[in-house]
Amino acid sequence: MRAIPFVLILCSAFALAQARADEPAKETIEHGKALVVAGDCTSCHTADPAHPFAGGKRIDTPFGAFYSPNLTPDRDNGIGGWSDDDFYRALRYGVAPSGSLYYPAFPYPNFTRMTRDDILAVRAYLATLAPVSNRVPPPALRFPFNFRVLMRGWNYLFFRPGILEPDQSKGADWNRGRYLVEGLGHCGACHTPKNVLGADRRGHGFAGGLVGGWFAPRLDGAERSGLKSWSASDIVEYLQSGRNGKSHADGPMAEVVVNSTSKMSERDVGAIAAYLKSLPAGAAEPRGPAPTEAEMAAGKDVYAHNCIACHEADGSSSPRVYPPLNGNALLQSADPSSTLRIILDGAQTVTTPRAPNTGSMPAYAKDLSDREIADVTNYIRNSFGNAALVVTAEQVANARKR
Ligand code: HEC
Ligand code: HEC
Ligand code: HEC
Repeated sequence: MRAIPFVLILCSAFALAQARADEPAKETIEHGKALVVAGDCTSCHTADPAHPFAGGKRIDTPFGAFYSPNLTPDRDNGIGGWSDDDFYRALRYGVAPSGSLYYPAFPYPNFTRMTRDDILAVRAYLATLAPVSNRVPPPALRFPFNFRVLMRGWNYLFFRPGILEPDQSKGADWNRGRYLVEGLGHCGACHTPKNVLGADRRGHGFAGGLVGGWFAPRLDGAERSGLKSWSASDIVEYLQSGRNGKSHADGPMAEVVVNSTSKMSERDVGAIAAYLKSLPAGAAEPRGPAPTEAEMAAGKDVYAHNCIACHEADGSSSPRVYPPLNGNALLQSADPSSTLRIILDGAQTVTTPRAPNTGSMPAYAKDLSDREIADVTNYIRNSFGNAALVVTAEQVANARKR
């Protein structure tokens, strides 16, 4: 009779000790938190800053809209009921606990490069969050993309799961940078052009891509429109403070800077810069006819009336306050989408703890016609030593509609 409670006590003491042993170490949770920052999980999984990682943020893609899932440990609406293995399979293989397949709007094709330890550290950190019972709507995708089973074919064609083996011929920093850029930081999700099915175009790594009406410029070593003219410390400054002496981060990149790169460790940001500076020049930019003399004269006129006060007659501006237009890589990108967004909508310089910026650029959508915006864009893309493809008034009209 008395033996039973004793056995019970023994058993529960053992269970308790077991639970303690499984409890992740404090360092693992801290490490996981830093990885979540580097992976910028919050930009997609937080809709309401009062409820971090509770999901529900709408993400528009060419295939329809997603509502990001709830990553808090809520058992019904979050991932509280998941095992470590469930979590591991989601990030490594893009497979849900039910066996159905995720869409690459969730950057698992990048996260698959993470080590198992890192994936589980992310899981350990997410498990410490307060559960939020936010129920998230299913994706609203266009036919036929609404059939998840199609992802079988997509994965077969485009997805290569597995970690990145360190390149022994390169240093620790370069390897760390590659891990962050290609894997966790998923920079190519925006900066690599996509094919019609939304997969990275082979052989065009970091050659620039479109994202939500913005153009994420080339990050390769291309002469005019890539990072050839940026030093490693230019890249570090941009990622840490959202601006440097050459350009400012706007649109989706401003979000990446605020939520992710400005909070990364000094070493990680340096590693990213080292890796990016090692990328080759990539394919040459397409060439086309220069704007006519009449177009240049019209653009110069618009510039003189609207832009010169901040950007100066020679485009030199005031570095770190007004970004220089001469030698500007974003401005000389073949695709003018980001430049047109900034001129149409204006831009507020992003503020980070390191650099509390206050500058802003006015919006010109109301004051200038499509023709005038095309003219001034062509003028700044082809003056001050710059050269880039001609932009048409139709392109401006299309950008205006977004
Ligand atoms: C670019 C936006 C984006 C980023 C960045 C992102 N996710 Fe997601 N994530 C999504 C979307 C969209 C889905 C849903 C995909 C689907 O329905 O097929 C998703 C799904 C998930 C799931 C599956 C959840 C479930 O309930 O089935 C997990 C786990 C997850 N993400 C974890 C992460 C982690 C961890 C990070 C950061 C390291 C991260 N995500 C970064 C967009 C993102
Ligand atoms: C959500 C999409 C997105 C992601 C993810 C992203 N970027 Fe960007 N990035 C952009 C866009 C868009 C721009 C252009 C910003 C502008 O118009 O000011 C940009 C600009 C840049 C620039 C400035 C280049 C230039 O010529 O002006 C650098 C450097 C950069 N990104 C690096 C990175 C790195 C490194 C990562 C990964 C850690 C990353 N980006 C992830 C969208 C993204
Ligand atoms: C009141 C000052 C001011 C005026 C006037 C102004 N800008 Fe700007 N411009 C800025 C600031 C500040 C930024 C940086 C915005 C940011 O940090 O997001 C900027 C950014 C830009 C950029 C993006 C450069 C980069 O690399 O980030 C372009 C292109 C540009 N301006 C063109 C123009 C043109 C064309 C006009 C006239 C039609 C104009 N600007 C008028 C202040 C100005």
